[in-house]
Amino acid sequence: MPKLLTVSRAARLVGVSRGAVQKKIQDGELPTFEGQVTPVDLLRVFPDTELKPDREFERVTSIKAHAYGKRVAERTMPDPEILSARLQEVGGELADAKVALKHYRTVFQQLQDQLDQISHSTAQTRGELASQLRKWLSKALDQSQSDIRPIQPLLLQDSMLTVMSAHVHLQPSGHEFFVEGKDSILEAALTAGLSLDYRCSNGNCGACKARIISGDVKKIKNHDYVITEAEKGMGYALLCCHTAVTDLVVEAREASGAGDIPEQEIPAKVKGIERLTEDMIQLSLQTPRTLRMRFLAGQLAELRAGDARKSYHMASCPCDDRNIQFYVRKETGNAFSDYVFGKLKKSEVVNIRGPFGDYILNEDSPRSIVFIAWDDGFSPINSLIEHAMALEIAERMHLYWIVSKDKQHYRDNQCRAWADALDNFSYEPLVAGSHARDALNHVFRQHRQLEDYDIYIAGPEAAVTGARQILDNRAFPAAQVFGYVVE
Ligand code: FES
Repeated sequence: MPKLLTVSRAARLVGVSRGAVQKKIQDGELPTFEGQVTPVDLLRVFPDTELKPDREFERVTSIKAHAYGKRVAERTMPDPEILSARLQEVGGELADAKVALKHYRTVFQQLQDQLDQISHSTAQTRGELASQLRKWLSKALDQSQSDIRPIQPLLLQDSMLTVMSAHVHLQPSGHEFFVEGKDSILEAALTAGLSLDYRCSNGNCGACKARIISGDVKKIKNHDYVITEAEKGMGYALLCCHTAVTDLVVEAREASGAGDIPEQEIPAKVKGIERLTEDMIQLSLQTPRTLRMRFLAGQLAELRAGDARKSYHMASCPCDDRNIQFYVRKETGNAFSDYVFGKLKKSEVVNIRGPFGDYILNEDSPRSIVFIAWDDGFSPINSLIEHAMALEIAERMHLYWIVSKDKQHYRDNQCRAWADALDNFSYEPLVAGSHARDALNHVFRQHRQLEDYDIYIAGPEAAVTGARQILDNRAFPAAQVFGYVVE
């Protein structure tokens, strides 16, 4: 059996999203062997692959890093010790391959020698047979070389990928991700959009304890939480304090729905108050180093500052470390927005309680996605998009942001940046006319095979109900419509 690649690794090597690879598998174009694919099949299905620097991956990494405010240069290079361990691993594989190659050459040489002897024997039929066998062997040797040649660059790139990052396969979910640079396994899983169980992210609580089934990890942070000797013997480790040295298989707890995440109350600091428009503020909060807010993209939290409180959607992705963003609109009669617009200062503490709500991404869906944000419905849609990007689940994503005449696309630049950076993402800002249905019909007309999509719409009741009715009239499957009314 030739070398097999996981879906995540295959997607990286040919520079497409995991969703795109999965679509080819579902359509029967790309065969799998126990969920993995061969390099030959991969290159056959993605023939335009440029086996040069991994540009798509770099672009996605940089847009994610930009969106999440992380300094890429500091994070991409692994620790020298880890690097050396991984080089050793790759070197070991190379040495094994060389030994195997040498062995096969010797065997073939011996076979050829024997055939020579047979061909020199006097029996005519034996001689003919030997001659045929010889020809076959020579052809087979040439053939194996020409089979390998086209995929050599892919295998070389795969070796580089193995050195720069370690692949992690989670059980029982089957989720996969890569640990880059100096990241802990937990950080890498969160960046990949996965919802592993954790709390402090600092080695104190034990919530991220998981069993390493195979592969090597290295401690990168001391921890107060005690793992017993018996647990160590069974392979348990804290994912927030260890990084991956080699590819891993890990048994870990993950949230599969909103009900799996407990309500939390966390005092967060104001990191930024950015006035996006006259009546819209982007509020950036940061949780303490020892306490992270665990939530799913699309969920809400109640914010409290001074005596004022109100619930808002978390507009950022759960993968964004300790940072959480909210869009706060200036509203008459809303004490919290009065406080944010009039009194709130940087470094002040805002209490976050939550998460609430179950407007979340259907991560198991194989379909592409149409996102429709209507006015302030952009907030949950923003979070869902960033999460979908982190997970790389959708083959294509289209965002339509429809605003009423008196409102603005207050994060227009960010949406355009997504569209510029990602080949599988498109964005169209729209202004609603007097009939909400006109804008919605315009959106649906853009997609001939609309039933190939999941549709997420968030906005005022009239927009969500209108969308459902139009789709219902077109006999669009109700299970593929995810509507949320923003109060
Ligand atoms: S998250 Fe608390 S110990 Fe890892």
